[in-house]
Amino acid sequence: MTTLALAASTARRKTALITGASAGLGVEFALQLAAKNMDLVLVARRESRLQSLAARLRQQHNDIQVLCIAADLSAPEAPQHIYAKVRQANIEIDYLINNAGASGPEMLKEPRWKVQEEYLRLMMTSVTELCHLFVPAMQKRSFGRVINVASVAGRIARGGDCHYGPSKAYLVAFSEALALTVSRDGVLVSALCPGFTHTEFHEAGGRLALKEATPGFIWYSAETVVREGLKGLEAGKRIVISGRLYRWLDPILQSVWLRPLALLTQRSART
Ligand SMILES: NC(=O)c1ccc[n+]([C@@H]2O[C@H](COP(=O)([O-])OP(=O)(O)OC[C@H]3O[C@@H](n4cnc5c(N)ncnc54)[C@H](OP(=O)(O)O)[C@@H]3O)[C@@H](O)[C@H]2O)c1
Repeated sequence: MTTLALAASTARRKTALITGASAGLGVEFALQLAAKNMDLVLVARRESRLQSLAARLRQQHNDIQVLCIAADLSAPEAPQHIYAKVRQANIEIDYLINNAGASGPEMLKEPRWKVQEEYLRLMMTSVTELCHLFVPAMQKRSFGRVINVASVAGRIARGGDCHYGPSKAYLVAFSEALALTVSRDGVLVSALCPGFTHTEFHEAGGRLALKEATPGFIWYSAETVVREGLKGLEAGKRIVISGRLYRWLDPILQSVWLRPLALLTQRSART
């Protein structure tokens, strides 16, 4: 590479692709990454919300480029559709934030397998495919950052729904393996594990009562979760547990000695 080409490539603004950018943690990722002088690709189903966020960001940051892509990540064609739109716009993705997610159907109570399958696609397959599509180019450029938003719910088994925790546990295992695979290529990968966080998540899943029934100190702000997630990623942490309380609890959940105690709380709340 010539000195001029090198200068041009280092001068290029970074671009972050954020899924689930129409609410909660996704909006907060957009705000914090825009403040770090990045261009953005925003993905979610509710395009009007993405457009409003894009307008707000353009007002705050004069030179920012924001592309909005409406996509339902429970559909099998969604990752390829997103990739094609990004390629069409001639954008290189430097930060991939796989954040979209929802509280899912109960495994044994929802009889339609299609609903279960779509949920698993949103929570695991789409994340894996987006990494499959975007990470190789990051390796080639020797720079990339990936956050897969998991949960402390993925750190311990609980009875009840059977899908949400295990799908987040997959993201933790997948992120660790991917991080090790690309560790010499300038690409950092983290599984971000928040605990209870103030977003639209519990309302969307019909779980507002849970929010009202739990003490305030177990809830963290989206601002804290995203700030800690980005900091942990840059520090090269493969698993980032967000929130002091959850950082304290996590070794207990992982301990072979103490894990049986944690399992006693059979149908604990979903985070
Ligand atoms: N809040 C918590 O307590 C908590 C704790 C641990 C982990 N998490 C995780 O954090 C992530 C973000 O959740 P949040 O708390 O910010 O919840 P939120 O406020 O409800 O936001 C969820 C986002 O995901 C998007 N989404 C949902 N289903 C989608 C689909 N089929 N296709 C595309 N996008 C979809 C939503 O956009 P559209 O509806 O517009 O598509 C929305 O932008 C999730 O992975 C969640 O599991 C949350």
